[in-house]
Amino acid sequence: MQHEYAFEMAASAIRFGLGATREVGADMAELGFRNVVVFIDPALRNLYPVVATLESLEANKVPYTVFDRISVEPTEQSMQDAIQFATAGAFDAFIAVGGGSTIDTAKAANLYMCYPTDFLDYVNAPIGKGIPVPGALKPLFAIPTTAGTGSETTGVSIFDYKPLHAKTGIAHRRLKPTLGIVDPENTRTMPREVAASSGLDVLCHAIESFTAIPFSERARPEKPILRPSYQGSNPISDLWSLEGLRLTAKYIRRAFADPSDDEARASMMLASSYAGIGFGNAGVHLPHGMSYPVAGLVRSFMPAGYESAGHAMVPHGISVILNAPAVFRFTASACPERHLEAAAILGANVSNANKEDAGKILSDELIRLMYDLQMPNGLAAVGYSSSDIPALVQGTLPQHRVTKLSPRPATAEDLATLFEGAMKAW
Ligand SMILES: NC(=O)c1ccc[n+]([C@@H]2O[C@H](COP(=O)([O-])OP(=O)(O)OC[C@H]3O[C@@H](n4cnc5c(N)ncnc54)[C@H](O)[C@@H]3O)[C@@H](O)[C@H]2O)c1
Repeated sequence: MQHEYAFEMAASAIRFGLGATREVGADMAELGFRNVVVFIDPALRNLYPVVATLESLEANKVPYTVFDRISVEPTEQSMQDAIQFATAGAFDAFIAVGGGSTIDTAKAANLYMCYPTDFLDYVNAPIGKGIPVPGALKPLFAIPTTAGTGSETTGVSIFDYKPLHAKTGIAHRRLKPTLGIVDPENTRTMPREVAASSGLDVLCHAIESFTAIPFSERARPEKPILRPSYQGSNPISDLWSLEGLRLTAKYIRRAFADPSDDEARASMMLASSYAGIGFGNAGVHLPHGMSYPVAGLVRSFMPAGYESAGHAMVPHGISVILNAPAVFRFTASACPERHLEAAAILGANVSNANKEDAGKILSDELIRLMYDLQMPNGLAAVGYSSSDIPALVQGTLPQHRVTKLSPRPATAEDLATLFEGAMKAW
């Protein structure tokens, strides 16, 4: 195998500022768009993020259509519905106002509207064919309302693929939004449980990308277009991931405790974009790979704060963090210094720590944080037991895009042990 020698950083342009949502109408007018579609989370219809967006379009006389059939945590059906709508509308620009669910739906609708084909063609292999996005898409302006997925910065769109009971997605740098408008005012109404779950997603983006295998350990692609978005840890992603982690460590408890803490909310939004730039190029690994069946096999868990979803779900951030302590105990031996560095940022005293203890030290910090943020106590608390482990492993095995970035390779047997270890956190 020839090893990779290059890495490539791709990220959306980002505009950050309190009230910046109100600028989107002027952007659209300036660019001359006359047929704009605005994807909105219907739960936000009467709240600031959507009201400010639509008022701004009207003030700038930009004609628009609203699409609000967003599923919280999209499925292949909700994606197809959005694609049909976009295709019929032949829009010349997209705006997405909502969390990752809304932004990811807009990305997929834009892609298939521009380059129609069978749905699985662009979906990650081996679930789909993993065909690269053929060319430029229509401009997409993403306005996140959670802090969060970092989807405003990434070329990734995730959905729940019902036939496999696991999530998967489409990943290519051409999917990334043209501009992310990151306005801290947009998370003021976010329920505190969503602040906790989406904030722990930020935390995992940061730690997973920082501990992913180095980019130079992957195989070199035949041509640049085949270089994946998720390339492994690299010096530029490290900067963004570590700074995202520092901000998260400092502000996540405050953002959860008090939604009116403006400094904490704004800092978590920055952290989300920082970690998005980091993981959007380095990738995530086992906690995310294992989260996809944890979300996809849900039976009846109805989390507080997610009432607007209207269905049983293990929210994305929860499905990821529940696996994280067991995973980092397992992966630490591959790069103990990085695990210790992350633990130190989270508050551990590592001055006399042994490398062999790195995994436990990091996972203890994570468990403390999960407890403080009132997370469910392990996979058992969201409805899983040991008898579900074979199905959870089956749902993780096809997630090559992320699992192969683990610094320590995990066999099916290892995954079973990790799921067992994630049943109870404390
Ligand atoms: N594209 C990527 O790079 C990427 C990365 C991580 C996760 N994801 C995906 O993103 C989805 C999760 O997105 P998310 O965590 O941002 O949450 P979300 O979009 O699913 O929203 C979560 C809940 O919060 C509500 N909500 C959101 N913002 C609100 C606000 N400001 N005020 C009041 N209520 C609000 C929503 O109605 C919903 O009930 C998952 O499908 C996940 O797999 C994508």
